[in-house]
Amino acid sequence: MDETQKDNGPTRRAVLEGGAATTLLVMAGLPIGRSAAADAAAAPSATPTSTLQVLLNINSNNVAVEVDPRTTLLDTLRNHLGLTGSKKGCDHGQCGACTVLVNGRRINACLTLAAMHEGDEITTIEGLAGEDELHPVQAAFIEHDGFQCGYCTPGQICSAVGMLREIREGWPSHASADVTAAPSTLTDAEIRERMSGNLCRCAAYPNIVAAIRDAAERS
Ligand code: FES
Ligand code: FES
Repeated sequence: MDETQKDNGPTRRAVLEGGAATTLLVMAGLPIGRSAAADAAAAPSATPTSTLQVLLNINSNNVAVEVDPRTTLLDTLRNHLGLTGSKKGCDHGQCGACTVLVNGRRINACLTLAAMHEGDEITTIEGLAGEDELHPVQAAFIEHDGFQCGYCTPGQICSAVGMLREIREGWPSHASADVTAAPSTLTDAEIRERMSGNLCRCAAYPNIVAAIRDAAERS
């Protein structure tokens, strides 16, 4: 070894020897560079959390559910009530797979707590169809083959239902030429912009847009 190597930090041999020593510690079940106190501080708290009874109106049914107050609406629907139509894609408000309607407005169920929705009317994909017929947006998705794997589809459909209501109520979008005027024609650009919160990993977008345009024209 020359002087330059000595001055420039550990040699390759020293690194390999250090790695071998660490492996032996792991095999012996001994701690590596952390104190027991640090490990205890990093461990999750086992403090029990009290539960809360929440009264929800879901798809026109009143239900009482006992949940940890920190439970999201999405987890309440899926894990406590068995309504698994709403999907968990990202759990971070980025994909729209969990979209449901609350008092007619579309929201990401993964970003809101169940306890915040007492007294609200919640509609999931399971509650959109009538007794004997599908909701027009559901029918249009089938007619236009607006899905491939289908994972994003419940969120896409709930979002489209909420979006068409926003248009009827005159809400502008970032794609509106004149945000002060009521939306007149629903262009594909408008649909894409208004549905931009709903991602489709299968990229079934052309058919999704066609289905929504069709459903909008029929309604
Ligand atoms: S799961 Fe809610 S936005 Fe992705
Ligand atoms: S149909 Fe597969 S993610 Fe949209």
